[in-house]
Amino acid sequence: MKDWKQIIEKPSQENLSRVGSKNWQNFLDQGSRIGISLIEQMKVYLRGSLKDKKILDFGCGIGRAFLPLTFDAGLSIVGCDIDATAVSYLKKVVPNNNLVVNKFSPPLTFEDNFFDAVYSISIWTHLNIHMQFLWLEEIRRILKPGGIALISVAGHNSLRLRHQRGMAMWQDINAKNLVNNGAIYKEYLSLNTHPEKFPGVKASYGSCLHDPEYIRQKWSNYFNVLEIKEAYIDGSQDLVVMNLSFTSDK
Ligand SMILES: C[S@@+](CC[C@H](N)C(=O)[O-])C[C@H]1O[C@@H](n2cnc3c(N)ncnc32)[C@H](O)[C@@H]1O
Repeated sequence: MKDWKQIIEKPSQENLSRVGSKNWQNFLDQGSRIGISLIEQMKVYLRGSLKDKKILDFGCGIGRAFLPLTFDAGLSIVGCDIDATAVSYLKKVVPNNNLVVNKFSPPLTFEDNFFDAVYSISIWTHLNIHMQFLWLEEIRRILKPGGIALISVAGHNSLRLRHQRGMAMWQDINAKNLVNNGAIYKEYLSLNTHPEKFPGVKASYGSCLHDPEYIRQKWSNYFNVLEIKEAYIDGSQDLVVMNLSFTSDK
C-alpha cells in the first residue's frame, strides 16, 4: 500500500508557512518527530492502549502532529483550531467528524471531563498571558481526572535558537531577563497591518517565551506539573507534561 504522505493532497504554501514549516517535506519530517515524542509521553502517563483513549489536538493547524498520529499510529484524534482554512484542509484529507473550528476565547463545546489527553503544540507560544490562563482553565475543565495535558512552550532553548537565527524581535532579551520575568510576551506588529496572516485571531496575538520555574509555580494552580522536558519538541520547544489528580476538586 502507498504511504499516506505520497498520496494526500498538500496544503497551500500559505497554510504551511503559518505553522512555520519551510515546505511539505519539512512539515512531514517535523510532524513525524513530534508525533513520536507525543506518543512516548502518552504511553508513559496513560494506562492501557492509546487506541481506546479520547485525545484532543488543541490548535491542530493543518495537522503536523494530527496526521502522523492518525495515519501512522492509527489513533482517532479530535482536532480543533480557530483557523477555518486549516480545519477545512484537514477535513478534506482526514474524512472524519472529529475536526472543529473553535472560538478564539473559551469555552470549547466539549463536555466536562471528556478527554484522557490534550496536547497542544505551538499555541501557548502565541497566546498573551491572560489568554494562557483562560485556556489552561478550559483544558482542565475538559480533561478527565487522571488525564494528561502536553503543552509546548518556547523556553531557554528557543531563545538561544532565536539569537542564533538573528531574530530581531528577541535580540534585546537574554536568559537572565527570561528568568527574572518568568514569561515574556510580545505582540506581533503585523497583526494590525496584515490581519489576513492570522485567520480566526480576534484580539492580542504574538510570541511568548517561558521560564520553566515560572511554569512550575503558576501553572501548578491548574495542573500537577510533572515534567518540563527541555527542547523535547523537535529539538526546539519545551514540553510541559501535566496531569489532573484523580482527587482534583474541580
Ligand atoms: C504555530 S501554529 C501550530 C499548529 C499545529 N499545532 C502545529 O504544530 O503544526 C499555531 C496554531 O494555533 C492556532 N490557534 C491560535 N489561537 C488559538 C485558539 N485560541 N484556539 C485554538 N487554536 C488556536 C492557530 O490558528 C494556528 O493554527
